[in-house]
Amino acid sequence: MRGARRGALVVVGLGSSLGDRQRNLELAARALAATPGVELLASSAVFRTAPAGGALSPFLNAAVLLRTRRSPRGLLARCKEIEARLGRRPTRRWADRVIDLDLLVWEGLRQDTGRLRLPHPRLHERDFALVPARQVAPELVHPGLGLRLRDLPAPTVRTGCHAVGVLLPRRPVATDPALQYSSWPRPLDADSGPPPAPRRPAMKLFLDTANLDEIRQAYDWGVIDGVTTNPSLIAREGRDFVETIHQICEIVQGPVSAETVALDWEGMVREGRLLAQVSEHVVVKIPLTMDGIRATRVLADEGIDVNVTLCFQPAQALLAAKAGAAYISPFIGRLDDISTDGVELIEQIVEMYGNYPDLTTQVLAASVRHPMHVAQVAAAGADVATLPFSTLQRLVKHPLTDIGLKQFLADWAGVPDTDIAGAVERWLAARAGR
Ligand code: E4P
Repeated sequence: MRGARRGALVVVGLGSSLGDRQRNLELAARALAATPGVELLASSAVFRTAPAGGALSPFLNAAVLLRTRRSPRGLLARCKEIEARLGRRPTRRWADRVIDLDLLVWEGLRQDTGRLRLPHPRLHERDFALVPARQVAPELVHPGLGLRLRDLPAPTVRTGCHAVGVLLPRRPVATDPALQYSSWPRPLDADSGPPPAPRRPAMKLFLDTANLDEIRQAYDWGVIDGVTTNPSLIAREGRDFVETIHQICEIVQGPVSAETVALDWEGMVREGRLLAQVSEHVVVKIPLTMDGIRATRVLADEGIDVNVTLCFQPAQALLAAKAGAAYISPFIGRLDDISTDGVELIEQIVEMYGNYPDLTTQVLAASVRHPMHVAQVAAAGADVATLPFSTLQRLVKHPLTDIGLKQFLADWAGVPDTDIAGAVERWLAARAGR
């Protein structure tokens, strides 16, 4: 990441078209300013923008200039968290929303990972994005177009945006306790309640295999979010490593962990950078050693997702999170094998991360051996469980399900018309004719 040590300059766009729009913008800007590793340097005026696309209400828009040591992925995750805390719910594109935070420009960085495109591809086209951005960072060079923001041509999408106020009347100071992330969000006015709690996404299921047939089958069932591999799993298949990873990414179109084998951090970084070029879905898997932690920091700063693997105790998980890992993989089955409670490790890590909202590392329960493990780690709050194909198959199995189904079908065989589809079609046709 450019400017990793001193921190990179980043312009974030803010928009709101629902509720107390001014307050939403101000709360979001303050939350960004209170985020560890982020310094707020400047805030724009607030601009009123006519509704565009599917939105019905006018937007208020603004921009802030930040200096940050966080990775692009880390800052994006923070923006999503702030949106959720302010009550944003998933909507269709362009619809009205409580708050919208967009990474517009990242100093010196061009990136297109699918999830994150920098600079924002439409920044220069829209007045409501460019006008506030220019105000906070006129000299910042647009890394795609090579021009300072102040020199960019007039945007083609014009919404008549015009200044109607200021974003932050009092400049926030990071030491103000009201702005500390741990105490945020809090009502600014006595009568305004806290924003609704965010809904957590359901635990994701990854498949722990490099076998393409298994992956295709499981993917067709529609419940698989990603895949993890390791050198042993790849070796077991006896196929070309890179081509296998590429094909898995093509099937899954979600996170696919591919592990490095170098032992020194420079070697890990080199392998990681190359693997990340195989597909935007590659997550670089790195073992939990001191060199691994150092390599994780470097790759995370470059916006590459890292899964830190072979974690067997909570302190290791803390280090990985501080290094910017996207995932930590505690191996629960291998702990059970040596008479230590693997699920307890997941509980400890989830609790520990929960104490520090600035840690965005996802807990990926690995070395999962049986369906009970899956239920236990979900109850413990793991973000992901990765399971072998055989365990996935066993998730649906229960003898009482089979016995119950057999009984239902036996009873059904006794009714005069057993053809449900035919009966429904006839009934629908009759209703349509009425
Ligand atoms: C996945 O990321 C791990 O490499 C895998 O779950 C290890 O599982 P095992 O302990 O069954 O080999």
